[in-house]
Amino acid sequence: MDIAISVAGLRKKYGETEVLKGIDLAVEAGTVYGLLGPNGAGKTTIVRTLATLLKPDAGTATVAGFDVLRQPQEVRRSIGLTGQYAALDAGLTGRENLVLVATLMHLGRRRARARAAEVLEMFDLTHAADRPVRTYSGGMRRRLDLGASLTGNPPVIFLDEPTTGLDPVSRIALWELVRKQVAEGVTVLLTTQYLEEADQLAHRIAVIDKGRLAAEGAPADLKRTVGGERLEITVRAPEMALAAQAALARVSSVGCAPPVVDEDGLRVSVALENGIAGVSAAAQELQQASVEVVDFLVRRPSLDDVFLELTGHHKGELETANR
Ligand SMILES: Nc1ncnc2c1ncn2[C@@H]1O[C@H](COP(=O)(O)OP(=O)(O)OP(=O)(O)O)[C@@H](O)[C@H]1O
Ligand SMILES: [Mg+2]
Repeated sequence: MDIAISVAGLRKKYGETEVLKGIDLAVEAGTVYGLLGPNGAGKTTIVRTLATLLKPDAGTATVAGFDVLRQPQEVRRSIGLTGQYAALDAGLTGRENLVLVATLMHLGRRRARARAAEVLEMFDLTHAADRPVRTYSGGMRRRLDLGASLTGNPPVIFLDEPTTGLDPVSRIALWELVRKQVAEGVTVLLTTQYLEEADQLAHRIAVIDKGRLAAEGAPADLKRTVGGERLEITVRAPEMALAAQAALARVSSVGCAPPVVDEDGLRVSVALENGIAGVSAAAQELQQASVEVVDFLVRRPSLDDVFLELTGHHKGELETANR
């Protein structure tokens, strides 16, 4: 197995606050690795350290085989970075931004122009190439920013919350672009707050919580720890909730928590064992029990669910942390 990024015992303090408390990671070359966690977990700190923008207090890290502390120049030549805040010059056109980046990568004028045109085409921005970036929509800026990080053809790219603020269509388009790069052998370290995004893209995920690894594994494994999909139904009147709870108990997953009724007494939810099969069984049981259902929905575990399960935080705590 070829390791593109390896991190061991990484620690970082800001004043008295330790924001990285010993992080260990190994990312296989040609894969997407997701760092998942709430605001302030330490994701950007990890990325900035690996991009040589920040010195750790302890620990070691290598990127593309180079040591981030002893070979920062070589590391910088091997990476592309799309930061949490787009690093584009809004006064320049899209093309000028890319030519600038390519020139900084020592590509030479001619090759820089050719590469810029190629990247603009790849990101569907040719039509807007000669307009100042300040006239671009948020999604266009994100695409250009990602394009800029790929301009030097780096073997490793860091994407720090690349799709925050994008509409669903642009988000899916960006995922497609990331997949294409990975198919060509690029290694991607991606930070995100969206379980869905990590699920779609990442081969492996590390859940970061308060500077520590709370869990690590393939997306399917992590989801299994939170019990997979949940069925949530709303009954017409509170007196039907108990019958619904009993009906759903008959289809609930073995080993998972029994169905629960919400505080409002109208919503009943349960973990589903085998997805769609469980849904039709649940519908039948509810019908037989003559429960009047006004809403019936299946939802995947949210990031909150994963966090609750893995770290034992209460939702309120998480929401405060997210502010
Ligand atoms: N320059 C700094 N000085 C002091 N504290 C900092 C600095 N940069 C980050 N921190 C703190 O370090 C912690 C981790 O921050 P980091 O930016 O790595 O989190 P994150 O996981 O990327 O969060 P988000 O999802 O909000 O981007 C936070 O508590 C933050 O306040
Ligand atoms: Mg961040």
